[in-house]
Amino acid sequence: MGTVKHYLQFKDLGREEYDYLFDRSRRIKDMFKSYQQYWPLTDRTLVMIFEKASTRTRLSFEAGMQQLGGSAIYLNTRDSQLGRGEPVEDAAQVISRMSDIVMIRTFEQEIIERFAANSRVPVINGLTNEYHPCQIMADIFTFIEHRGPIQGKTVAWVGDSNNVCNTWLQAAEVLDFNVHVSTPPGYEVEAERAGLYGTDHFEQFADPMDAVKGADLVTTDVWTSMGFEAENEERMRDFADWQVDGEMMRAAGKDAVFMHCLPAHRGEEVSAEVIDGPQSVVWDEAENRLHVQKALMEYLLLGRVGN
Ligand code: CP
Ligand code: NVA
Repeated sequence: MGTVKHYLQFKDLGREEYDYLFDRSRRIKDMFKSYQQYWPLTDRTLVMIFEKASTRTRLSFEAGMQQLGGSAIYLNTRDSQLGRGEPVEDAAQVISRMSDIVMIRTFEQEIIERFAANSRVPVINGLTNEYHPCQIMADIFTFIEHRGPIQGKTVAWVGDSNNVCNTWLQAAEVLDFNVHVSTPPGYEVEAERAGLYGTDHFEQFADPMDAVKGADLVTTDVWTSMGFEAENEERMRDFADWQVDGEMMRAAGKDAVFMHCLPAHRGEEVSAEVIDGPQSVVWDEAENRLHVQKALMEYLLLGRVGN
């Protein structure tokens, strides 16, 4: 099943493919906004497998597939055989014989890789412990909409070096921009876990105020990701000085945009003043999940189509 194209991490696609996908996302978004019917995926079925909670990912994939003329089926661990120990390889064989494309949100990246290795159809990563590529595709599309090309720009990541952070780091290598990361001691980026080729696109800063200085985009995420709830109390203490607040946004500069993949916790990783303030583009960011994922599904199933 080696010829099927999957999207398991950001670096599965190259710069030229992203340029195409961002153009396509723009076109697909315009069609959606002007109520133009566009059904290139008629009769195609997306299966969505969730082993963790979701609002945006489920909504954007399900609505997106329907808007492209196809249908979507939701499976979760609780009421399917997936939660009862059926081997992931067996599940992949069966699910991929009955569908055209699969999206999975799960724990270890290794699980989605085993699924993909046994799938006859494209598999998309809807978040793992290590990565969240669809999120960063949407974030970069949002940045382009607001500020133009991301090449050569600086993204400041303040907080946990989690799945979303790892994906920003991969994206910086693929699309040639810089990431400044500031985490509390003990939570630094692990380059190998992030799947990086080198370290020349990112720099770590002990002080978050240094990381955000002059950044074009400031972003953060929850201090405790899904699956790590047991560490919550300790993390609340360790991350207390890593809240993105008004002072940090002022250090970044007035042209910097603020992003957060959501769901957010006001008063923890971000102040209400920032997420609800004029530099925040979080609602555009959330909406763009829909448009970029429609472009991605179209690309994985049909290849390049005319613009
Ligand atoms: N940002 C994101 O993936 O949100 P959900 O967890 O709601 O899907
Ligand atoms: N880092 C967060 C992202 C949620 C969309 C998590 O994995 O829970």
